[in-house]
Amino acid sequence: TKNYDYLIVGAGPFGMTFAYEAAKRGKRSLVVEKRAFIGGNTHTHVENGITVHDFGAHIFHTDNKMVWDYVRQFAEFNGFQNQVIANYNGKLFNLPFNMNTFYQMWGTKTPDEAKAKIEEQKAAALKELGDRQPRNLEEQAISLIGTDIYKALIKGYTEKQWGRKATELPAFIIKRLPVRFIYDNNYFNHRYQGIPVGGYTQIFEHMVERADGLIDVMTNTDFFEHKDDFLAEFPKVLYTGMIDQFFDYKHGELEYRSLRFESETIDSDNYQGNAVVNYTDAETPFTRQMEWRHFDGLADEGKTIITREYPQDWDRTKEAYYPVNNEKNTELYKKYVQEARENAPEVMFGGRLGKYRYFDMDQVFNDALNTVRQEFGIDDDFNFAHD
Ligand code: FDA
Repeated sequence: TKNYDYLIVGAGPFGMTFAYEAAKRGKRSLVVEKRAFIGGNTHTHVENGITVHDFGAHIFHTDNKMVWDYVRQFAEFNGFQNQVIANYNGKLFNLPFNMNTFYQMWGTKTPDEAKAKIEEQKAAALKELGDRQPRNLEEQAISLIGTDIYKALIKGYTEKQWGRKATELPAFIIKRLPVRFIYDNNYFNHRYQGIPVGGYTQIFEHMVERADGLIDVMTNTDFFEHKDDFLAEFPKVLYTGMIDQFFDYKHGELEYRSLRFESETIDSDNYQGNAVVNYTDAETPFTRQMEWRHFDGLADEGKTIITREYPQDWDRTKEAYYPVNNEKNTELYKKYVQEARENAPEVMFGGRLGKYRYFDMDQVFNDALNTVRQEFGIDDDFNFAHD
């Protein structure tokens, strides 16, 4: 057997980035991945000339120039901007909330008209509330944006996401509702945005190729089937799976929301005319419908692939997608962090499951590079000339 320096659990962006940077410093890693492929939730595959994101729409967006330069070493990015359409019972609105949305909702044409309308709606809601604080998500949302937008664009979508009535959800889920008084449908505010042409998987394939044999990846391998052997054999472990599972859920289970994806190939060159359409009513069982050819304009003629995203409750048999960061889970997570510090000092916990936090991809790359800095005691800015 080879002399590995690291065992890395999980071939997602966190694990692969660490493995690649370790290889650049002459260190050898074994990456074990329970799924059949690398890339974690950013994994994409190509079918009918169309790049399909297997775990929901992934758009890279960041203000971090270092991370933006970093990922572009491994793939060419297009300039895709997410411009989401909301379908509420057959009526269409632009998202995020901006002058287009307000025009579609009320016919207001100037920022002053739109502001006046929102203020009027909020005033009615606040009068209703009187002196008390919003007691649930519904009251909170209405006090921030008024009834019209809440009913058409927030209520049904949020209830489907959480599987609960808005009146039974805590107010803290919605802290702010950003509104824009310009005609601008760009979903993200970040300066650098795009999608790798040909998909995300190539990023991680290139990392392996460029590691000169210092990264071995074993797919279809669950860490827990060999946990004791692995821990005995490897001096250093980077673990990007669920932190509670690592400790056999001894303090209890951290909660997640899960998703189910349903894809369909259709004989068409253009099925819905947009990359992402949100269904914001309560009756349509899915929240979003993606049409993948619109993410990069590439597809075989006459074929299109759409994917519908259905939220679902999570249990151990399902994929964990979104952590439920309420007070109970935050306390529980702290217990596991303590446990890790005391009983597994040789193990580094990273990534969205290891840290029990929702991370966007840019945060994950940034965090992984920070872990590299710490592990190797370096102050590298990961700056390099582009070839
Ligand atoms: P990730 O989950 O990707 O990888 C962890 C890997 O570890 C997985 O492959 C898993 O199988 C493996 N693993 C776990 N336990 C194991 C075990 N016991 N043994 C072996 N392997 C194990 N971000 C963004 O920037 N823009 C976007 O548009 C989106 N969109 C988006 C949509 C949806 C629906 C979701 C759920 C998420 C996003 N994201 C996103 C977030 C993005 O998916 C996320 O930032 C990265 O996937 C996180 O990378 P990690 O490496 O941390 O985890």
